Amino acid sequence: MKLGEVSTKYPVLADVVQRIKDVDSVDELYPPQAKAIETGFLDGKNLVLSIPTASGKTLVAELALMSEALKGKKAIYLTPLRALASEKFEEMKEKYRKLAKIAISTGEYDSSGKELADYDIMILTNEKMDSLMRHKPEWLEKIGVVVIDEVHLLNDKGRGPTLEIVTTKLKKLGVQFIALSATIENSDEIAKWLDAELVESEFRPVQLARGVFLDNSVAFKEKDDLKLDAPPGACPLAVLTTDIIQKKAQSLIFVNTRRSAEKEAEENGKEISALFDTEAKKKLEEIADQIENVLDSPTKQCKRLGKCVRTGTAFHHAGLHAKQRSLVENNFKQNVLKLICATPTLAAGVNLPSKRVVIRDYKRYGNFGMEPIPILEIHQMFGRAGRPKYDTEGEAILVSKSVEEFDQLWDHYIDGRPEPISSKLGVEPILRMHTLGLIAEQERDKKQLFDFFGKTFYALQYEDMASLEIMIDNILDQLFKWGFMDHENNRLKCTKLGLRVAQLYLDPMTAFDFLQMLERNPSDEMVILTILSDSAEMRPLGSVRRSEEALIFEEFEKYDLGDEQLRAFKNAFIFFEWMQEKTDDFIFDTFGMPPGSFRTKLSVADWLLYACGEISRLSGRDKMLDKLRMLRKRLKYGVKRELLPLIRVRNIGRARARNLFGVGIKSIEDIKNSSADVLSKVLGKKTALKIMEQLDMNTQTTL
Ligand SMILES: Nc1ncnc2c1ncn2[C@@H]1O[C@H](COP(=O)(O)OP(=O)(O)OP(=O)(O)O)[C@@H](O)[C@H]1O
Ligand SMILES: [Mg+2]
Repeated sequence: MKLGEVSTKYPVLADVVQRIKDVDSVDELYPPQAKAIETGFLDGKNLVLSIPTASGKTLVAELALMSEALKGKKAIYLTPLRALASEKFEEMKEKYRKLAKIAISTGEYDSSGKELADYDIMILTNEKMDSLMRHKPEWLEKIGVVVIDEVHLLNDKGRGPTLEIVTTKLKKLGVQFIALSATIENSDEIAKWLDAELVESEFRPVQLARGVFLDNSVAFKEKDDLKLDAPPGACPLAVLTTDIIQKKAQSLIFVNTRRSAEKEAEENGKEISALFDTEAKKKLEEIADQIENVLDSPTKQCKRLGKCVRTGTAFHHAGLHAKQRSLVENNFKQNVLKLICATPTLAAGVNLPSKRVVIRDYKRYGNFGMEPIPILEIHQMFGRAGRPKYDTEGEAILVSKSVEEFDQLWDHYIDGRPEPISSKLGVEPILRMHTLGLIAEQERDKKQLFDFFGKTFYALQYEDMASLEIMIDNILDQLFKWGFMDHENNRLKCTKLGLRVAQLYLDPMTAFDFLQMLERNPSDEMVILTILSDSAEMRPLGSVRRSEEALIFEEFEKYDLGDEQLRAFKNAFIFFEWMQEKTDDFIFDTFGMPPGSFRTKLSVADWLLYACGEISRLSGRDKMLDKLRMLRKRLKYGVKRELLPLIRVRNIGRARARNLFGVGIKSIEDIKNSSADVLSKVLGKKTALKIMEQLDMNTQTTL
């Protein structure tokens, strides 16, 4: 089917079709895309599209979104990851800017959603959608279609339940669903759940040859084997990397830990750097400089990444700063970097020019030690190779170390089918949070609440609801006991406080812990920080490593805390050291916490402190308000209390504030009373000038 036929049949889409032709150079629809059109999703029918990676699910989603937007309805695109949301936003904005108003919103859970009212298309994470629904913005009623990307993540213990609840709530609103899924065994169950037409297919526009590596050769299922000559002493995978670069292509290596990602990038870099000419090296040098200058002062990790980039490789994991992550991705897309070694953060949804994907580790740490990664996830990683935009064929290679392992990998991952997915709704903390959320959105009796859960994917799969209902019963008791819920004539109703907790998108247990803390009013910062760290929101927490034991235990002993709080205490201790103005490097070296992950924890802490302040105000337990406010500021900037007056000035961060303080300049007043000479000595001429202008100081004199 030609793309043009879509606009013949649906004239409202004429301009959209033209934009897809112009920007994506699409002329002919892929067979599953054509099949999808035939199901009538553009006439409003629900659709589950369960087709391989890189088979063009996004195009179907875009047609559905734009079709509804052009009819004056709101269209929502839900994605599991912030990174994916930004990628889709950038792409759609470029393509459809003139045809529809497109917004992205992924953070800041306590927002009413009013600011989104003017937009036609909203790109949101599942959590953001959930939190918005708690604020009941008016535009909810105007939603025409909801696209759920990566719907197979219903299977994910962490993110699945929220997706499941949001979808069940949306079902009640009567919206149209377009659910996009990897190829899974039981996509028919999802279709049944969503009352949707199902399109399944094995079609992949770019052929993917899958294989297993052993002793410098790769046996492929779909093409001839590849035999390579390894130079002596080279790291085992460098032979694959060198080969792909010599073929003028790029590669991605997946490993299971951040440390491995860094090491693998480094080792491969040593082998391939000789393959770049002077001009390419100059470009790499420039990017390395940019990467090293993302933070005020580069950390060891920044330098390590910079060093890799100089050799044409990079590592990519959640510990990287967001700016560094996008620098790495963009320069890989532009074919400047030739190899990325990544943790599975890069496994889903993204379009990258990696003709070859190598999976070094097929196991990862789970609850029971090292566990094999599910087939579904390995296939998602495979799917990053051979994307239509960049390549005409792709290779996906698993690495084995023995003949036995070779056979195992082949049978399981190459010949095996992905596991069926199953609902993960029966997890207590998540259920607790959503039960309160549901009552906050609408008063209901217990039967209505159970009816709601009766419409979930869990109910469809397990039929027997007894165990879930027992769990919910316990949760209701807790919510009542904690003062977040009331019964009135059999109706379940949120108290004012409960409503706010739901809107703040907090686990009710966290909110209850906060209430108790507000009552006790502890004066010690470490106690407050440990309570923050001991919340569901702050998890997962790092373990206490052998090298840290002496330091952490010594401090820990000073407090009356339970052993189960040791990890939370360690997390609190890192925050404490940060506020003592310790550097990112110190935090990484001492506690093994890389800067990117630390920033994530800091933003959770910021959020929790805000939420705690709100609860404090509403509950009238307001003795801690000033303390909380001050702590929030100090954590945000990583400073001792004495620097707070200086930090208020734009362009003054923790380092500059400390330098000013060191020469006796302790407040804005002090800055104003300082000479331009002194300021420029401490801050550098350029910064001094900026700050003086900002404070309306006379810059004409000495500078
Ligand atoms: N009919 C088509 N003809 C040519 N290229 C197409 C067509 N449809 C989609 N594409 C291109 O194919 C690429 C992959 O599409 P997309 O990102 O939608 O894959 P996907 O199915 O969502 O894969 P994943 O499961 O990995 O997320 C995009 O670059 C897109 O522009
Ligand atoms: Mg996709």
